[in-house]
Amino acid sequence: MFEDYPRETVLKDGSFVLLRPAVPDDEKGLSELFARIPDDESWFLRDDLADPEIMRQWIKDLNYDRVIPMVAVRQDDDRIIANVRLHRRSARCMRHVAHLRITVDPEFRQQRLGTWMLVDAIKLAMEIGIEKLVAEFVEGVEEAAISAAHKLDFFEQAVIKEYVMGPQGDYKNLIIMVKNIHRDWSDF
Ligand SMILES: CC(C)(COP(=O)(O)OP(=O)(O)OC[C@H]1O[C@@H](n2cnc3c(N)ncnc32)[C@H](O)[C@@H]1OP(=O)(O)O)[C@@H](O)C(=O)NCCC(=O)NCCS
Repeated sequence: MFEDYPRETVLKDGSFVLLRPAVPDDEKGLSELFARIPDDESWFLRDDLADPEIMRQWIKDLNYDRVIPMVAVRQDDDRIIANVRLHRRSARCMRHVAHLRITVDPEFRQQRLGTWMLVDAIKLAMEIGIEKLVAEFVEGVEEAAISAAHKLDFFEQAVIKEYVMGPQGDYKNLIIMVKNIHRDWSDF
C-alpha cells in the first residue's frame, strides 16, 4: 500500500515537502501541528487531536487497517505541516467505505498542499478497494474544504440541519459529501 512513499512534492512557493504514512515517532510533530490550528477551527475537529492526551492514545492505537494517516513533512525543518486520514470501520458491511479528514497548517494553506494530500488519499483509497469516500464539513466554517472537495468530484449527499454546535452554543449544518471511487486512473 505504501510502496510509493515517501514521495516528494513541491508547493506553490517552491518549497519541498515529503508525503508519507504517519508513524509512532510523529506524535510530537502531529501534536505541534494541531496546536497551531486556531481555536475557532480546532473546536470543530471531530477527533480532538489538539488534546495531547488524545493524540498520545491515538498514536498508541495506530492501526493501518482502521486508520490510514498520511503526513506532509517540510524538508527544510522536518516540520509536519499537514495530515490526512482515511478512517475505516471493521464491520464487513462498511469495509467499502472510508471517512476522510484533512488538516493543513494555516501557514502553508493555498499552496496546493491540501490538493496533493487529497489526491494521495483518493489514490490510497482506490488501492485498498474503497468504493465510497465520505467527508463531513461544517457549513460556514469549513468552506475552503468544501470547495477543495468539489474540485475533486465529491458531491453533496446530505445536509443534517443544526447538527454541530459552535463555541457560542450556536448550531451549524453538517454537509456530508461523497466521492465514488472508480477502479482506474481515468477518475483523475
Ligand atoms: C481545506 C484545506 C485542507 C485546504 O488546504 P490547502 O492546502 O489550503 O488547499 P489547496 O491550496 O490545495 O486549495 C485547494 C482548493 O481549496 C479551496 N480553498 C483553499 N483555501 C481556500 C479559501 N481560503 N477559501 C476558499 N476556498 C479555498 C480552493 O477551491 C482551492 O482550489 P484553487 O486553489 O484552485 O482555488 C485547509 O484549508 C484546511 O486544513 N482547513 C481546515 C480543516 C478542514 O476544514 N478540514 C475539513 C474537515 S475534514
